[in-house]
Amino acid sequence: MALTGIDAVVYGVADMAEAKRFLEDWGVSQVSATPDKLVYHTRDGAEVIVRPKDAADLPPAIEQGNTVREVIWGAANEQELERTLATVKTVPGFHVGPDGLARVTDPNGMSLAFRVTKRRPITVKPTQPNAPGSHNRVNERSPIHAQAHPINIGHVVLFANDFAAMRAFYTEKLGFSISDEYPGHGVFMRCQKVGDHHNTFVLNRPGKPGINHVAFTVADIHEVIGGGIAMSKKGWKTEIGPGRHPISSAYFWYFENPLAAPLEYYADEDYCTEDWKPSTFERKPELFAEWAIIGGIDGNTRRQAAGVDKSGRGHA
Ligand SMILES: [Fe+2]
Repeated sequence: MALTGIDAVVYGVADMAEAKRFLEDWGVSQVSATPDKLVYHTRDGAEVIVRPKDAADLPPAIEQGNTVREVIWGAANEQELERTLATVKTVPGFHVGPDGLARVTDPNGMSLAFRVTKRRPITVKPTQPNAPGSHNRVNERSPIHAQAHPINIGHVVLFANDFAAMRAFYTEKLGFSISDEYPGHGVFMRCQKVGDHHNTFVLNRPGKPGINHVAFTVADIHEVIGGGIAMSKKGWKTEIGPGRHPISSAYFWYFENPLAAPLEYYADEDYCTEDWKPSTFERKPELFAEWAIIGGIDGNTRRQAAGVDKSGRGHA
C-alpha cells in the first residue's frame, strides 16, 4: 500500500480571523479566504483548510475546543488509491462522502479521507555544510531566512484513547511501517516503506484522545531558526524550541497558535528504507529533546549583543 503522505489537514476553530493572521505569518500561501473557509498551500500543494468549528458539514471533533477535524491522506495515483482502499473498505463505517472522497474514522474518532494526491513533488536543496576536507558549499554564503516557507505537512501527532487499537489500525489497515517505538506508550510510523521517519506519531493517553501537534517541513536548520525568529518577532508564542529530537534527528520549533495544538517547523529528519532498524526506547524527556530552548529566541536577539565584541579578539 502506498499512501504518499498528508494531503490536507482540516481544522475547526473558534476565531477565523486569528487563524488567518497566524497562517499568513506561518509562511503558507493563501489559496482562498472566506468567512466560512480558509485554504492555504504549502510549497508542494498540501492544504491547510480552516473552518468555523460549528460548521455543520465538519466531521465530529475528538476533543473540546479548536482541533483537527479531518486528515486527508494522498495516494500517488488511482491504482495506488484503490490498493489502499481495498483494505480500508473493510473498516466498519467506511463510506464515500458527498465530495466523492472515501472516508473512515480511526479508532480515536478522527475522520480520515483519501484521495489521489494534489501535491507536486518538489526537490529542495538544503544549505550544504562545510568541514575541513569536506567542502560542500564553495563560493556561496549560507543564507539567513527572514521567513519560513513550509514545504509540506510532514506529520500529525495524535493522543490515542486506545493505543493498541490505533497502532493496529495504522499498521494493518493503512499499511504504515513502524520506524521507532516506546513500547506501550508511543509509536512513530511512516506511510511509505521508503520515506521520511514519521508521518504520524501516536501517543498513549487513555480517556483523552486529541491532537498533540501538526508539523511542517522546512529546508534546513537555518530555515527552522529564521522562520521561528520571524514568528517570535510577530508576537507568536513559542511552545518549545528551537531544539533537536534524538528520535528522527530533526531540528524543531513549536508554536502556540489559534488553529489548535502546536504547529511545528522542522528539518533534517531521518530518511528510512527497508534497511532501517526500528528501535525501542524507554519514554523520557531526554528522548524528546537532546536540547531545546524553552520560550524560543526572542525577536530582537539579532540586534542584541551579537555585534558587540567584548573579548578583545576582534571577532566572535
Ligand atoms: Fe513533530
